[in-house]
Formats: sequence, C-alpha cells, structure tokens
Amino acid sequence: MKNPHSLRAAIAGLALLAGPALVRPATGWTQEWSWPERGENLQVLPEDFPPERLGAVMRGFTRALGVRCSYCHVGEEGQPLSTYDFVSDSIPQKDIARTMYRMLGVINDTLATIDPSGPKPVNMWCHTCHRGRPRPTTLDEELAEVHAAEGIDATVAAYRQLRERFYGRGGFDFGENVLNMFGYSLLEEGNAADAVAIFQLNVEQYPASANAWDSLGEGYLAMGDRERSLEAYEKSLELDPENENARQKLTEIRGG
Ligand code: HEC
Ligand code: HEC
Repeated sequence: MKNPHSLRAAIAGLALLAGPALVRPATGWTQEWSWPERGENLQVLPEDFPPERLGAVMRGFTRALGVRCSYCHVGEEGQPLSTYDFVSDSIPQKDIARTMYRMLGVINDTLATIDPSGPKPVNMWCHTCHRGRPRPTTLDEELAEVHAAEGIDATVAAYRQLRERFYGRGGFDFGENVLNMFGYSLLEEGNAADAVAIFQLNVEQYPASANAWDSLGEGYLAMGDRERSLEAYEKSLELDPENENARQKLTEIRGG
C-alpha cells in the first residue's frame, strides 16, 4: 500500500462528518470520545445537564462565534477531543463565555417583562450579537480601528479581506451606505484624501450607485480636484438624471 495513512484519514474524515464522537488520535487507531454524562466544572449550566444538550450548546457557541473548541478549551486544533482538557478554566475566553451566558439570561429575563410583539417573545442568542465572529463589531467600527492604527491603505485592504471572508454570512453589513457614511466621517475630520479612497472603494463595489458617485464628487471637490469631481458628478447624473444635487454641483464647478 502506497499510503497506509490514507485509509485511516478517510475513516477519520467520515467520523468527523458523523459528529465529534469518533476522532483520530495523534497516534494509533480511532479513539472514542463522548460528551460527559456529568460535567465536572459546570457553573452556569445545570450540573446534571444531559450530554446531548451540552453538545448542542457547545456547538452553538462554536458556530455563533465562528471559532473552534480550542478558542475556549485547552487543546490543540486538529488533535482528537480526547486529548483536550475541557474541565480546565485556564483560557480566559471560557470564563468570558460564562459571563456572556449570564448576561444573556438577564437580557432574556428583561425582554420577558414587555408585551411580546408577536405570538412569542423574540429570544436573544449568542449569535444575535456575534453573527459568526468573536468580536461583534460593526463594519465601520472595524474599519475605523484599522484606519486609526495603520492608515488608509491597510483600511482598504482590510475591507477587501473582510468582504472576501464574510460576505453573505450576516456578520457585517456590506451595503453601500456603510462605506458612504465611513467616508463622510473621514471628510468631517478634515481627511479628504482618505475619504476619497473610501468613496473610490465604494464606487468600485457599487458602480451603478448614483449616490456613491455623488459622494466621490464631493470628496474630490473637498480635495480641490475639480476635474475628477466633475467626472464623478457627471457619472452620478448619468446614473440618476434626477440627482438635483449633482446637477447643482456641476453648475457650480463649471461656473466657478
Ligand atoms: C465560546 C467558548 C466555548 C467554546 C467555543 C466551546 N466551549 Fe465548551 N465550555 C465552555 C464553557 C463556558 C463551559 C462551562 C459551562 C459552565 O460553566 O456551566 C464549557 C464546558 C464544556 C464541557 C464540560 C466540561 C466539564 O466541566 O466537565 C465540555 C465537554 C465542552 N465544553 C466541550 C466543548 C467542545 C467539544 C467544544 C467544540 C465543539 C466546545 N466545548 C466549545 C465554553 C466553550
Ligand atoms: C448583547 C450582545 C452579546 C451577546 C448576546 C453575547 N455576546 Fe459575547 N460579546 C459581546 C461583545 C460586545 C463582546 C466584545 C467585548 C469586548 O472585547 O469589548 C463579546 C465578547 C465575547 C467573548 C470574548 C471574545 C474575545 O476573544 O475577545 C466571548 C468568548 C463571548 N463573547 C462569548 C459569548 C457567548 C458564548 C454568548 C452566548 C452565551 C455571547 N457571547 C453572547 C456581545 C454579546
């Protein structure tokens, strides 16, 4: 046999598909791991929480935050779960997760005191806030952090990476308004050049948006680049002949 490990790998692959109960150990043959009948260190979940429910909650945490078990538990990604120490509290994220769980209880208890808007009260979950990420920031918060620390080129690069990774997953709002508002916040800070870089990114993402081109026109005007401003406003008016702002700006630029 050319590769004695391939069969084991295939079996381990199947086992992973079936769930985390059967996993490939570091050495040797597949080894059983199962959810404990009784957790040893449960502080927020009931002590006698049944194994299948513990499994559901842990998989829920993992999915809500877009992380692996090793984000909160001592163990190495890719190694069998039997080698993990799930009882240990040495990774701070585990205890933060407990705090979050208690917070969620307070939130849902508070929500239970108002008249529900539908047949049932709307429940809050970990994923209501986290939406697949450990830090539930908004896109403009994320971009503002990168901009403050590393400048405009890194910010544009960060946008592209985030879009590549999270588009369509609900974690961020990639609609045109977010970049538009972020660009305006830079413009208000007096940073027209960086605002233009963001408005350019927005027309690249939304080439058919009259509003995105209008904002780019405003950015160029703030930079004193009349020619490019004119082009952007013309493009905006072409896409939306009813854009009175663009029409007015064009008259002003041509007249002045
Ligand atoms: C976001 C953090 C987080 C992630 C991710 C996470 N867990 Fe947990 N896990 C916890 C917390 C918190 C507890 C303790 C709950 C309590 O105190 O009641 C716990 C408890 C456990 C326990 C019980 C340990 C004991 O006390 O005996 C097991 C087993 C476990 N997790 C397995 C997993 C597995 C397997 C995964 C991946 C599929 C996972 N967890 C992912 C936070 C996490
Ligand atoms: C009401 C919104 C909200 C809910 C619900 C919520 N979280 Fe969080 N969580 C946050 C915020 C905000 C932060 C970031 C705090 C910071 O770093 O400033 C955070 C941070 C965390 C972190 C630390 C991440 C890191 O590495 O910095 C963990 C772990 C976590 N949450 C787990 C959970 C779990 C598990 C649940 C469900 C039981 C949950 N959260 C529910 C808002 C929420």
